[in-house]
Amino acid sequence: MIEIKDNSILLSDGSNQYDLPFLWLRDNCQCNECRITETQEKQFLLHSVPVDIAPKHVEEIENNINIIWPDDHKTFIPIELIKKLHLSRYPKHSSWPNEFEPEKYNWSEFLDSKKTALEALKTFVTYGVIILKNAPQESNSLELLAKRLGPINEVLFERIHNVSVTGHIYNVAHTPKGLPPHNDFASYNAQPSVQVLHMLENECEGGESIIVDGWQVVKDLKADIPEYFYILQNFNVPFREFDEDNETYAEAPLIKCTSDGTIESFRFSNQLMQMIDPRKDGVGKFYKAYHEISSRVHDKKYHSTFRLNGGEALVVASLRVLHAREPFEPNGKRHLQDAYFTYDNAANNIVLLSN
Ligand SMILES: [Fe+2]
Ligand SMILES: [Zn+2]
Repeated sequence: MIEIKDNSILLSDGSNQYDLPFLWLRDNCQCNECRITETQEKQFLLHSVPVDIAPKHVEEIENNINIIWPDDHKTFIPIELIKKLHLSRYPKHSSWPNEFEPEKYNWSEFLDSKKTALEALKTFVTYGVIILKNAPQESNSLELLAKRLGPINEVLFERIHNVSVTGHIYNVAHTPKGLPPHNDFASYNAQPSVQVLHMLENECEGGESIIVDGWQVVKDLKADIPEYFYILQNFNVPFREFDEDNETYAEAPLIKCTSDGTIESFRFSNQLMQMIDPRKDGVGKFYKAYHEISSRVHDKKYHSTFRLNGGEALVVASLRVLHAREPFEPNGKRHLQDAYFTYDNAANNIVLLSN
């Protein structure tokens, strides 16, 4: 049923009601003149009609809204299209259940089977983490994951980063010390959004992997102490990672949300955080909030701990899931490689693989 109001059309369909502004209707005309038929891109330019445009005639024919405008342009919009707009392209994010451990998928099936890849990517979006097992134990195998995760997001230092105690040391990860929970390259404004940690060999005692659901930490902080949440959302923190050949630096808040308040990213790196200029407003308040979130990040209730074996690759949505490592005895071979990818590419492959 259609009812014409002052500035919009009210479409009623059983229990659903859609209030469709005239400009919205004109902008979304599906005719071949308003769209480029080959690409489905919009061709119509909104400013080519008056802002107060109103239809001359409206009717519903065979599940289409049909409109004739004052310049005699004829618009049609299938009602099915409007009904589907609320559907999410991706699975919903879920909290981790108790005793959570990442789901494991076979490396080669992930690459070769569309069905496994789809399932794995859905799990990845839902929980922010998966493990690929039976991965090749050869250097630079991470290049192969581009098929499912999109191109490598190359950053400074190395394209595929080597983490061992025998190589180039520019980070605490290259020592046998424990690594507190963090995400990598907080020192980039566009911080990498997917990280894959590929264990080539792990013969050392200790060095268990720990992952932390950072978004759960942030959500709980918002519920418990909203004031701290807002401070961390609005206070820029400096981060730096460098060596003799590379310089990376960014200032950004620890928490970023989308315009509707959904958490978008949690930036956390004790090791890369720099000295904050004490003349800046609110340093004292920031530090109280930072103390609180730091203790929550280290609270074991947000952790999942496991051993990442040689031939396993841990894939994390790194703006959500922090990673950490317990200290290890350097009494055997331990070689990890990591590379970064882009979350949008991984998530959009869910749509591609669903076709
Ligand atoms: Fe790291
Ligand atoms: Zn049109």
